[in-house]
Amino acid sequence: MYKTHTCGELRGTHAGQTVTLAGWVHRRRDHGGVVFIDLRDRFGLTQVVINPNLPKETLDLVSNVRSEWVLQITGKVQKRPEGMQNPKMPTGEVELIASDVVTLNTAKALPFMISSDEEVDENMRLKYRYLDLRRERMRRNLELRHAVVLFMRTYLSERGFLEVETPSLFKTTPEGARDYLVPSRVYPGQFYALPQSPQQLKQLLMVGGIERYFQIARCFRDEDQRGDRQPEFTQLDLEMSFVHRDDVLEMVENLFTAMLPTVTPHKKLLSSPWPRFTYDEVITRFGSDKPDLRFGMELNDVSGIFAKSEFVVFRSALERGGMVKCIVAPGCAGYTRKQLDELTVTAKELGAKGLVTLALTPEGLKGSAAKFVGEAELAELVKMTGAKTGDLYLFVADSAKLVHKVLGALRVGFRDTLKLADPNVMAFAWVLDFPMFEWNEENQKWDAAHHMFTMPRLEHLDRFETDPSSILSDAYDMVCNGYEMASGSIRIHRRDIQSKVFTLLGIGEEEAQRKFGHMLEAFEFGAPPHGGMAPGIDRLVMLLADEPNIREVIAFPKNQAARDVMADAPSPAEPKQLKELHIKVSD
Ligand code: AMO
Ligand code: AMP
Repeated sequence: MYKTHTCGELRGTHAGQTVTLAGWVHRRRDHGGVVFIDLRDRFGLTQVVINPNLPKETLDLVSNVRSEWVLQITGKVQKRPEGMQNPKMPTGEVELIASDVVTLNTAKALPFMISSDEEVDENMRLKYRYLDLRRERMRRNLELRHAVVLFMRTYLSERGFLEVETPSLFKTTPEGARDYLVPSRVYPGQFYALPQSPQQLKQLLMVGGIERYFQIARCFRDEDQRGDRQPEFTQLDLEMSFVHRDDVLEMVENLFTAMLPTVTPHKKLLSSPWPRFTYDEVITRFGSDKPDLRFGMELNDVSGIFAKSEFVVFRSALERGGMVKCIVAPGCAGYTRKQLDELTVTAKELGAKGLVTLALTPEGLKGSAAKFVGEAELAELVKMTGAKTGDLYLFVADSAKLVHKVLGALRVGFRDTLKLADPNVMAFAWVLDFPMFEWNEENQKWDAAHHMFTMPRLEHLDRFETDPSSILSDAYDMVCNGYEMASGSIRIHRRDIQSKVFTLLGIGEEEAQRKFGHMLEAFEFGAPPHGGMAPGIDRLVMLLADEPNIREVIAFPKNQAARDVMADAPSPAEPKQLKELHIKVSD
């Protein structure tokens, strides 16, 4: 080994020992005569003292040393003199008095400093990700990610789950995004698809009698990038046989509840057991299917109060079968014209026709629409919303879908502006009773709300022909702090129900056979009842690490334009490769 100890290891108890360290030059300070080097490895920092009494060639070497050179230093551990100790450094009690310094490698001038946490342009960080990984922030995040995955593996193994790897070269596995295709050289014109998730494979493992499966699974989806989305990402993929919905929920809730104190003891659960909501309830109360429960500001349905209003904006929405809802922003009555205009712009960008804002002041309501709110209406409004003097009402009148979308987004906006949510609280919750199908306006067809292998409620089977929109499914989401952390469902294990679903989705017998023949046939060989779910590991670690996006918890992520700027991928293929793959590129 190049070293006897790590750079984070030495303490007062090592004083007097001769040790060898190896690592990077974090900082070098020349005090005219004595040179101090902070030597860094993954495990920490140690202060090294280079005294002027060392041989000339060592002193010459040290005078040339620059940041991030790789050195091996042998010396004697010494307690730092009284008053020179650094309680902020785990090794701050000691220093290493160097007797020998060896250069293992030099380093060019760096594109950014490793030793400071100054903000660096993200594309620069990603281009030199191997340098960025040396920084404290990335190291901490990768360590946390490791702890999370290790906990999951151990916890599940102890409970009879088998970790099984499934292929990346597979066939289309629709989860609602585009597939990444891989051309076959051997079969001209034919393609593998990278799995959007191991959904079909884990169900086939259940048919294969595995009963309890998990995998730290890589998923590939060609979809629009966002802070919480990457083209490839990782799920804790789970599936269980002979279970009902609540068995799966309990398993996952227990796993997460046990994990938190181990990996992030400073994070607290908002409530245990986790609250359960129906899909309808979260949409109505929070305007979102992934509500942040760490703060209030719930949506209030004030349609009843304004049923006979003279305010045409409200009345016309109600007459068209819509609704009027409001949220109350605490302490925002003093918002300026400019701030209110900005809120209106946001509401309009989200699709609203406008936004009515009314400030509750000691003199009553203030705002251009205040004249339309009578005394009785105001009293009812205050009673329903619990608003206090100094608060600001924000109203949207429109279809239920739009009202919820706009107020739900404004609510989250206020969370950030007013800092209403404690980052150290993890507000996990279950969202249940999702609709089975969603009407796709653009293509004039039904889509599966979760995926096409999700079990519809058996008592709703007779609605397939009459009222598909009212069919609920046995799907569930785990949400936390405004993010969807996981989705899952009880699956269809009966061929006849699967056919019903395919028919409604417009997938004909021929197409079903071609795309999913293997699944349909498997269901005919004694498929057990089964279900599962898949928490997104990147999103989970992002929240646990207090990071603003999932790129911060992935060693080598794509940038926001889905490019790898370090390796410069995607990139053109060699003409020879294309020929072998029977591919002609058109523009
Ligand atoms: P779903 O598609 O909802 O379900 O995905 C489950 C979880 O995976 C994470 N996730 C993502 N994370 C980062 N980048 C992405 N592009 C991305 N897409 C999804 C989220 C999400 O909640 N097979 C089903 C699960 C099941 O039914 O068991 C599935 O993949 O955290
Ligand atoms: P208008 O009558 O369009 O000038 O709008 C009067 C006020 O109502 C303005 O402040 C608009 O932003 C607001 N407004 C218009 N339509 C809606 C709506 N559907 N919901 C809430 N506010 C609206």
